[in-house]
Amino acid sequence: MSKTVFIETFGCQMNLADTEVVLARLGEAGWAQVEDPAGADLVLYNTCAVRDHAEAKVRGRLGELKAIKEQRKKTGGKLTIGVMGCMAQREKEALVKRFPYIDLVVGTDQFVHMPQLLDQIEERGRLVATDFGDFEDRLWSAKRGEGINAWVPIMRGCNYACTYCVVPNTRGREKSRPMAQIEDEVKALVDQGFVQITLLGQTVDSYGKTLGDGSTLAGLLRKLHEIPDLKRLRFVTSHPKDVSDDLLDAVAELPKVAKHLHVPAQAGSDRILRLMGRRYTRADYLRFVDRARSRMPTVELLSDFIVGFPKETAADFAETVSLMEEVRFAGSYVFMYSERPGTPSANLEDDVPLVDKKLRCNHLLDLQLVHQGEQFQRLHGTIQHVLVEGPSRNNDQMLHGRNMGNLNIVFPRAGHDALIGSVVPVRIERSTSLTLYGEIVPAESPVELTHVR
Ligand code: SAH
Ligand code: SF4
Ligand code: F3S
Repeated sequence: MSKTVFIETFGCQMNLADTEVVLARLGEAGWAQVEDPAGADLVLYNTCAVRDHAEAKVRGRLGELKAIKEQRKKTGGKLTIGVMGCMAQREKEALVKRFPYIDLVVGTDQFVHMPQLLDQIEERGRLVATDFGDFEDRLWSAKRGEGINAWVPIMRGCNYACTYCVVPNTRGREKSRPMAQIEDEVKALVDQGFVQITLLGQTVDSYGKTLGDGSTLAGLLRKLHEIPDLKRLRFVTSHPKDVSDDLLDAVAELPKVAKHLHVPAQAGSDRILRLMGRRYTRADYLRFVDRARSRMPTVELLSDFIVGFPKETAADFAETVSLMEEVRFAGSYVFMYSERPGTPSANLEDDVPLVDKKLRCNHLLDLQLVHQGEQFQRLHGTIQHVLVEGPSRNNDQMLHGRNMGNLNIVFPRAGHDALIGSVVPVRIERSTSLTLYGEIVPAESPVELTHVR
């Protein structure tokens, strides 16, 4: 009988992509994936370290596993516990000191050798493997889920040093994958029916810099765009400083590239941006918004914000609010500042009281919902080109998909399953604060793609 693995993934899409690779590696070595930790021979946590909250969840899970492992031992069984991902990379040996019943700590590059590492612990006992390796040198297979979406990391690591961020520690220096390798992978994925591809990177718009052969994200988009059956291309996440005119031109001119840019602003006050080490000013950010919208009036802009960064005053926060008012994002992720050990900002006193962080967080979230609601209202009556992804998660009488701006759109399923994976015109009829609802437009209606801001 094959051995079984249960894996739980925390954090970002890069972690989800790593989980797909580790499952493929384990599958090649004869491991079968199970959905319940109770019966698994190996429990793996693919962890995130970006905020303490993400790590606390894993500490909780590890706490629960202790009794289960002891119980198994009593009945002559065995449970192997592995921790991979950013928390493993950050804490290394300290993690096994705190939780001595962990068998394997595997870093953000070494996890590709998971089957070999598991063999080694059989022989040698507990292992910590956190060296940065040569992940990009070859094409690793991945065990992907069903559907039309595939995520493809095109670079790993980060060469910025935002003062609050653990990622440069946990994922190392920036490394881009060669363009030809990415092209081969995407071609194969499209052949398998993954017609919507999302390119991943911590600062995806700086793709190519480390290759030294002139490769850029704009060039990669143009190349991938030629793959005949590919329907849509997206990329996340961009750093404001690296959004070149050439990249914006490529997004604007390539019909398969989603008109959707996730470019975190983080804050609206120059003083805080400087303390965060973000390397742009509020004015620079607004110029980026103009450069994007002058080429693509319908482009959807998404941002991340951190509230309660050390020394953030009410006046600083008001500048973040006004930035949000000025730009009107299609979506915002808002986080309360979480001090991370080993980052430069850990040297600053975490001096904004939790109650203020919460108030500021809710303020931005509420404002975002207002902006989203207004934007959705403006879309009522327009016809959107929706790439159909599959049945809606909450209602199997409905299908859902995304428009060019990546907004989620739901419409009646009735006899339309054959449309999954194709682009169809949908007229927007109504909306809730998070979702747009519409009807498929009969083929004979003229397609108008109105969009007003
Ligand atoms: N460039 C990366 C950023 C990863 S972290 C990317 O691929 O998206 C995602 C977001 O978490 C950041 O944009 C930031 O808004 C937030 N974040 C990072 N470190 C944080 C911290 N110490 N406290 C609170 N939020 C943080
Ligand atoms: Fe992803 Fe960053 Fe979390 Fe690592 S720390 S899993 S890169 S969000
Ligand atoms: Fe983190 Fe800033 Fe890089 S947010 S991932 S150090 S761009």
